[in-house]
Amino acid sequence: MAEWTSLVLTVCLASVLVVKADIKVHTPVGQLFVFELQRDTFQNEFPPFLRHYGRVYNDPMVFKCNKQAFPDLPDWLRFTQRHPYNNGFLYGTPLAQGKTTIEITVINKRSYDTAKDRLIITVDPPAKRMPYQAEFFISMRDIEQVLPSTVQEDIKRDLKRIWKTKTLDFVNITSALDRGGRVPLPLAGHFEGVYVKVGSDQYFTECLLRLQTAEHRRQCEVAGKDTVPGDCTVCSYSGICVTWCKSTLIDLSRPVAPHPAPTVGTGILDAGSVYDPPESPPPRDFLPDYIVTVIVPLALAILLCALLAYIMCCRREGLEKRDAKTPDIQLYHHHTIHENTTELRSMAAGRGVPPPLSTRSMFNSRTGETAPSFQTESPRVPLILAQQ
Ligand SMILES: *[C@@H]1O[C@H](CO)[C@@H](O)[C@H](O)[C@H]1NC(C)=O
Repeated sequence: MAEWTSLVLTVCLASVLVVKADIKVHTPVGQLFVFELQRDTFQNEFPPFLRHYGRVYNDPMVFKCNKQAFPDLPDWLRFTQRHPYNNGFLYGTPLAQGKTTIEITVINKRSYDTAKDRLIITVDPPAKRMPYQAEFFISMRDIEQVLPSTVQEDIKRDLKRIWKTKTLDFVNITSALDRGGRVPLPLAGHFEGVYVKVGSDQYFTECLLRLQTAEHRRQCEVAGKDTVPGDCTVCSYSGICVTWCKSTLIDLSRPVAPHPAPTVGTGILDAGSVYDPPESPPPRDFLPDYIVTVIVPLALAILLCALLAYIMCCRREGLEKRDAKTPDIQLYHHHTIHENTTELRSMAAGRGVPPPLSTRSMFNSRTGETAPSFQTESPRVPLILAQQ
């Protein structure tokens, strides 16, 4: 009993030690929420490699995030981490108020230790009115490069100058890959592209309104590359320049015309009437179809088969005709080759018998007498003695 209690106590204590204080964040409805999962903060959870040298090691880490008690994230929240040596980002735009708990599991890819943390996101009521929104396309960036707050500030500063307003907020940031974009080549200077949606309570400037003109659209189609409407582009770093041809304005202040009600076609019954099914079609005769599709090809196939059999079996030329056509000398040549081959074969079968005399080192061809073998195996010794 005492053992059990101590075991339970140890388990409880361990779980208390593992679960850290939760991270709490607030964000308003309808605005972009970004939370950077910093590898540095989680590094302390893992015993450092080479502890004896007092060195903090830069471990590769992978984050896994899910809504508490669910396998995946809530549908408004997305997660991205390019590489185990990069920070991860949770980002998205909440559309409803409430509280969401996100479980974060960190896997240290060096030691395969794990650590856990919890992020509690409280979604507050909308903080700002943003009836005028615009979506800009930044082609020279990947999503992770845009999500850090410093880069967001840079982008916002440029857009504020284009919009000529001080109140501008991010509504959404989306990778072009989520919009059907293509994965770029893994080369320097190729990026996925990012859609940045911002909103303001101030009406669009003339520059921005020019995006909607037919003239601008036509220029985009004709030029094939990006055309700036007027001279209103501002871009402090070349990486975060806006691609104007893929940017659009969204005016939420104007009521959207409701979809027209669907017109009722003839196939719909009036209430209370009885469905009268049409007569079944008259029976059809399938014999002609059967003859055309099965019998005729079958007859053709049999005919061709018979023709082929006749050619192959009855029109063979035969050995006699071939031999009569071949010149005698050629036939003779052919036969000798055959005979020699047969002879060689029969000789090969009798390898067990003593070798013929001619292969001995020395002999008298008349008497068959062998000479005493020489001590030296000199190649100069003649194989056949001269006849006396
Ligand atoms: C933000 O972008 C994502 C991806 O395109 C989309 O699914 C989501 O509905 C967007 N949210 C808002 C509020 O526009």
